[in-house]
Amino acid sequence: MPRLTFLGHAAFLLEGDQGKIAIDPFLTGNPIAKAKPEDIQVDAVLVTHGHGDHVGDTVAIAKKSNALVVAPFELANFLESQGVSVHPMHIGGSRKFPFAWVKLTTASHGSAYVDDEKTVYTGNPCGFLIRIDGKLIYHAGDTGLIADMEILGRLNDIDVALLPIGDNFTMGPDDALEAVKMLKPKVVIPMHYNTWDLIAQDPQDFCDRVKGETPSRCVPLEVGESYQV
Ligand code: NI
Ligand code: MN
Repeated sequence: MPRLTFLGHAAFLLEGDQGKIAIDPFLTGNPIAKAKPEDIQVDAVLVTHGHGDHVGDTVAIAKKSNALVVAPFELANFLESQGVSVHPMHIGGSRKFPFAWVKLTTASHGSAYVDDEKTVYTGNPCGFLIRIDGKLIYHAGDTGLIADMEILGRLNDIDVALLPIGDNFTMGPDDALEAVKMLKPKVVIPMHYNTWDLIAQDPQDFCDRVKGETPSRCVPLEVGESYQV
């Protein structure tokens, strides 16, 4: 049974018998994160898009862990140029890795790596379907509400959906509630909120609405808290 730990923002640690995976590991500079990149030992790092609050410490973690970085093609190429081992994929493509089965899903957002000197465009953003130890986890990445979620819900029996609720850059609570109705996951865990004032939300209020309007369970996690899938 895999264990999912919320590291803050959109960052999660997924630990199963098959392997250990970090998703969008933004720790350094993340005002709500408690874990340090040097504490994270994983087989793979999955990155949804090139924005700094998702690439985060990917390079440092992948180098120290000797982990494989899985990302959309253009972002994978950029990260490879930073000295890590990558496996490029793209939207709709899936692959069975030793640590998990991974499929890239659509996300309606942007993707560029921005530092002080330059902006590197890194293709299309994605979400991930991850099957590990027989459980299916959906990390939506940064996205607005998209009708594709209806197809994802119809074709997949999602155990846990990780959905942004912060608004401004992604879905807010109203649209995330619609996403839950389309995805029909057993459990929803909200993410991408309260990292900064700009994306302040009340996760309990969101979860109360999920409980009132859908059959899905909603579990807001504290930073550092784990959920047994
Ligand atoms: Ni983003
Ligand atoms: Mn983001």
